[in-house]
Amino acid sequence: MTNDSHKTSSIYGCKLITLDKHHHKNGNLSVVENNNQLPFAINRVYYLYDVPGGVERGGHSHRLCHEFIIAASGSFDIEIDDGKNKCKMTLNRSNCGLLVPPGIWRVLNNFASGSVCLVIASDCYSEDDYVRDYTEFQRLTSNKSCK
Ligand code: TYD
Repeated sequence: MTNDSHKTSSIYGCKLITLDKHHHKNGNLSVVENNNQLPFAINRVYYLYDVPGGVERGGHSHRLCHEFIIAASGSFDIEIDDGKNKCKMTLNRSNCGLLVPPGIWRVLNNFASGSVCLVIASDCYSEDDYVRDYTEFQRLTSNKSCK
């Protein structure tokens, strides 16, 4: 599979998006729907839960898939890396997520007990879309055309 997302990706293309919160005395509600809050059509939703303390998730980039990552419950840290610049932040609000375009290496760690990481993705699961080897990621992101 060839595409140039790793050549053009930038952590500055990752955006925190705050979803509207519908306040209710019995609990809040936030919504994500197609052609509304996110700049991609939704094809997949998955979530991480029962994450043991001290472990790391992620550790990969995608060639084509865009993801929107939310701490639906609890909190965790996410480090994003475009091969040149890195940035680490904490996600801890159920109505605020990070948009991660393709070509960005991400590592999630420091999960608080009971956290749920909800991921809304542009593409169905395909192992071919993953770059799981950091050396390969560095090769793909070398001589970036932007920044
Ligand atoms: P992986 O994406 O490596 O998890 P993470 O990045 O959160 O650490 O996926 C873990 C396993 O789950 C791997 O064997 C692939 C499988 N998987 C699916 O079958 N479908 C999916 O949509 C995802 C995200 C993973």
